[in-house]
Amino acid sequence: MPQNPEYRCTAKITRSWRTRDGPFELVGALPTLPSSPAVKREPTALKSALAEIDRQHLRRTRRTVESFPVADSRAEIVVDGKRVVDFCSNDYLGLARHPEIAAAMGECAARTGAGSGASHLVTGHGYEHQALEEELAAFTGYERALLFSTGYMANLAAIATLADRGEVVALDRLNHASLIDGTLISGARFSRYAHADAADAERVLKEHQGAATVIATDGVFSMDGDLARLPTLARIAKAYKAWLVVDDAHGIGVVGPTGRGIVEHYELSNSEVPVLVGTLGKAFGTFGAFVAGSTELIELLVQKARTYIYTTALPQPVAAATRKSLEIVQREPWRRERVLALAARFRKAARALDLHLAPSETPIQPVIIGAADAAVRAQNRLLEAGFLVVAIRPPTVPTGTARLRITFSAAHTEEQVDALVEALARIPAHAPRKSEVHG
Ligand SMILES: Cc1ncc(COP(=O)(O)O)c(C=O)c1O
Repeated sequence: MPQNPEYRCTAKITRSWRTRDGPFELVGALPTLPSSPAVKREPTALKSALAEIDRQHLRRTRRTVESFPVADSRAEIVVDGKRVVDFCSNDYLGLARHPEIAAAMGECAARTGAGSGASHLVTGHGYEHQALEEELAAFTGYERALLFSTGYMANLAAIATLADRGEVVALDRLNHASLIDGTLISGARFSRYAHADAADAERVLKEHQGAATVIATDGVFSMDGDLARLPTLARIAKAYKAWLVVDDAHGIGVVGPTGRGIVEHYELSNSEVPVLVGTLGKAFGTFGAFVAGSTELIELLVQKARTYIYTTALPQPVAAATRKSLEIVQREPWRRERVLALAARFRKAARALDLHLAPSETPIQPVIIGAADAAVRAQNRLLEAGFLVVAIRPPTVPTGTARLRITFSAAHTEEQVDALVEALARIPAHAPRKSEVHG
């Protein structure tokens, strides 16, 4: 495995530099592209930067989804003229092409137009936004919820509002990039603890006693599918008087007896998880995000959060679509049950093949491959067989753990899941054949 100081990410690495606002210090390492050369304004600089990315097999590319061959479903898509089963979307409940949701969006667009016209604090906050915020607060059981255009922006807002210069934010090593970036814009230092290791999180809080004011974690980890050890993190956060920010982007709508996410799964109270972030572009099948919390927290976000204040409000038709989606999530629990059953079916079959799985019981089921180039080869083989699965490589995941991030949707069929397993069995250069990635 290449020794890459940028990606070693131990909590000991400290970098500091001067900013307009004074010295800035970073504890931990940013998951940047390994060894990416500085991009100076010189004729060859951009080409060299791209060549270096290619050399490391890390070039990211996009595919254009040309059409959806099956009515009301995005489980199958046409890309590059080829019809494939999509096993990499986050449309866990199969709502992204639901006709009632699309109709709600269209009806609202006819009433309000497509654009909201301004930011929420100017004149962009509309009836549909307000109604959705109230419904999300009721759904999650928090006093209030505040809509954001994206989960990325919601996480930046939550952390930057609660953490400040001179303070420390404790972050799980596998947290989503937006939690890291939120810490960076807050001006606080960050210190990362070992993945899903609450004891190590406590070490960080002890080490920075008084200064560690926020613990932030994914609820369901986006690239691994496992759950944060939330009850212990909640206990530690309380003991050290730190805010606990939980980004439940992949849990809300899916996890918990009624789909209210990881807080419901662990039967935690609002005071144990005072800041909950949820996204709407995944299980809810639409777009946007929210922060849920106390009235005072939401009011402070409205006053301070730059990603709330300095941006145009989400289009009202998107909020109207999400209101319909929220109604369906509550009215049709079979969607949640079905996607979890399909993930369990895959797991059982993949275990029988001795594939290298992660300890996940959610719709996110990564198959760990190891080397980035091998993961890309596996992705291409699956594509030839009619399955779209994306290879996730560093810096999104740690070096040496490139993977096929397979995700399930209530819109998939059992036959599609079984066919995917058969295709995986035919891939020659496979993952190290261990049973679990985290021991
Ligand atoms: C854990 C996690 N948090 C936040 C986000 C960002 O959400 P959004 O896509 O709404 O910006 C994502 C992915 O997109 C995610 O996986």
